[in-house]
Amino acid sequence: MPQQSSKSFEEVVIVGAGLMGAGIAQVIAQAGPKVIVVDRAEEDLARAKKQIVKSVGRLHGEDQVDPILSTIRFTTRMEDGKTAQLAIEAVPEKMAIKQDVFRQLDRFLDKEALLASNTSSLSIAEISSVTSRPEKVVGMHFFSPVPMMKLVEVVQGINSATETVEKIKEFGEYIGKEIIVAKDFPGFTVNRALVPLLNEAAFLVMEGNDPESIDRGLMLGANHPIGPLRLADALGIDVLLFTIESLYDGFNDSKYRPCPLLKRMVEAGHLGKKTGKGFYDYA
Ligand SMILES: NC(=O)c1ccc[n+]([C@@H]2O[C@H](COP(=O)([O-])OP(=O)(O)OC[C@H]3O[C@@H](n4cnc5c(N)ncnc54)[C@H](O)[C@@H]3O)[C@@H](O)[C@H]2O)c1
Repeated sequence: MPQQSSKSFEEVVIVGAGLMGAGIAQVIAQAGPKVIVVDRAEEDLARAKKQIVKSVGRLHGEDQVDPILSTIRFTTRMEDGKTAQLAIEAVPEKMAIKQDVFRQLDRFLDKEALLASNTSSLSIAEISSVTSRPEKVVGMHFFSPVPMMKLVEVVQGINSATETVEKIKEFGEYIGKEIIVAKDFPGFTVNRALVPLLNEAAFLVMEGNDPESIDRGLMLGANHPIGPLRLADALGIDVLLFTIESLYDGFNDSKYRPCPLLKRMVEAGHLGKKTGKGFYDYA
């Protein structure tokens, strides 16, 4: 394991041990820092542990499972994370839940500790507004599956200090990620550019074009590694609709109008790969 360096933190607390939180805990533990994982119930923690064991075993070999797990502590008590120098929140995408977590982190952690949110669509300014240290709050937007995806978007809220952004950027690189810095506007950078493309591809289907042709068109004509409709199915049509709606509401701009076909698909339960049907059939 790498040596601890000034670009790192000795202890990091992750709040919310779902799909993202468990992945984030894994990549940080692999890099060396001690990790404290907090969730509401023992069963959530057990599920996170299982995800980490499976992923580490597959990516790094069974002999790496115990050394990596031994640096992670699983707990239901937020206070157990109080000695951490960095907190990363990965609870559900609801402002009230996130603000409640940030209030607690602000209370328990040292006043010099940095606080980051893995939100994909909420405002960092609004999340940070419930803390006494908005200059020490940033977005740290990982992509799924976290151990495989290289990118982290570090999101600078209007109150986030440049020094905080720099420290998080260095830490992101330390744990093996590639970093881009994005401003705190809906969709940040990646979803802002990507989601309107997927939405537009849905309009093409609604107008009678064949999904296969649209995907082949973008792959062969624009060098995309995966077609937009296959990608939409993989992301989840509900997630895509939620994200385009948050761009539409966030900018009040008609250019982000959600495709009505996406709404119908969600109503019909055609959520993509996870339900066996989206733009394609997976049965
Ligand atoms: N899933 C993705 O592809 C993806 C990608 C990038 C960012 N995100 C963002 O990451 C965050 C988490 O997403 P996810 O997919 O991991 O969700 P998830 O539902 O898998 O996990 C959320 C976890 O938070 C826990 N939780 C809820 N309230 C809590 C509380 N008060 N204290 C502690 N834990 C609590 C839940 O028990 C659950 O284990 C969201 O903000 C989401 O937008 C998700």
